[in-house]
Amino acid sequence: MQPSQDSDAVIEVDDLVMRFGKQTVLAGLDLKVRRGETLVVMGGSGCGKSTLLRLMIGSLQPTQGAIRLFGQDIGRTSEQELDGVRRRFGILFQSGALYQSMSIADNVALPMRELTDLPDDLIQLQVKMKLEAVGLREHADKFPAQISGGMKKRAGLARALALDPEIIFYDEPSAGLDPVTSAEIDQLILTLTKKLGVTSVVVTHEMDSAFTIADRMVMLDKGRCLKIAPRQDYERIRNATREEAAMLSEDDRIVRQFIRGDAYGPITDRRTLTSYADDLMGLLAPLPASPSITPTR
Ligand SMILES: Nc1ncnc2c1ncn2[C@@H]1O[C@H](COP(=O)(O)OP(=O)(O)O)[C@@H](O)[C@H]1O
Ligand SMILES: [Mg+2]
Repeated sequence: MQPSQDSDAVIEVDDLVMRFGKQTVLAGLDLKVRRGETLVVMGGSGCGKSTLLRLMIGSLQPTQGAIRLFGQDIGRTSEQELDGVRRRFGILFQSGALYQSMSIADNVALPMRELTDLPDDLIQLQVKMKLEAVGLREHADKFPAQISGGMKKRAGLARALALDPEIIFYDEPSAGLDPVTSAEIDQLILTLTKKLGVTSVVVTHEMDSAFTIADRMVMLDKGRCLKIAPRQDYERIRNATREEAAMLSEDDRIVRQFIRGDAYGPITDRRTLTSYADDLMGLLAPLPASPSITPTR
């Protein structure tokens, strides 16, 4: 019997709902991340990408639904068990999130000191290897304030690699970097992913970066997965001519506008239509139900 593809899933998201007060950010999201793949997560600002990452790493509890990492439901896991799962993934936050008062080496050593019983000489050795992997070995003793933005990202990445993770989560790894540095980070992500066989979930707005590193891509829209598909499918949608685009489904046309960064299309139409309707409703509301014009005759 052929094994189902699902047996390869290292992350499974089932009917995930996340509300903050009255705001529903995720509205029943289903998603699977397969072992060894790089999945790029896209979507407009504020659509819930960072929230999804925080749910995936167990730092937020879902309102409803489940997330399984390595088959374990992390919403229903004790803090102690969660530490075991935490050892198996690394995170690169948007800002790099380094401790300013610690050297780069100590920042990278931190997860090893906190989550393992390794003796210090072994930790030092590991730190050197991780820093070498990201090209920062010579800067080990510097402090975050003394290095550039790109180097901070590298240092954050070395720290994410500290415990030889099976999954790495990245939240906008190229945000705020110049194009060349950003391309270097992409290459680093690619090399590390392929060399170490890790699974990567990468949130990004940078389309060049997305198309460089993705095996599959997913676009979030209105709290759901609008489309999850191999990179090649997204490339076809991006490269479709205007005539071909007219034949695409509504969802694919939304994807197309987003990945091409077009100023006009279904996303902007939808926005204009909704706000126009809201505006009209706002005007209509105070009007009396029937016109108060009296005949002058
Ligand atoms: N802790 C929180 N409390 C209340 N609202 C939140 C919280 N975290 C995120 N949000 C809201 O959820 C929405 C999605 O945020 P986020 O996941 O950061 O979006 P993205 O990363 O896609 O830009 C935003 O409207 C944001 O204001
Ligand atoms: Mg975000």
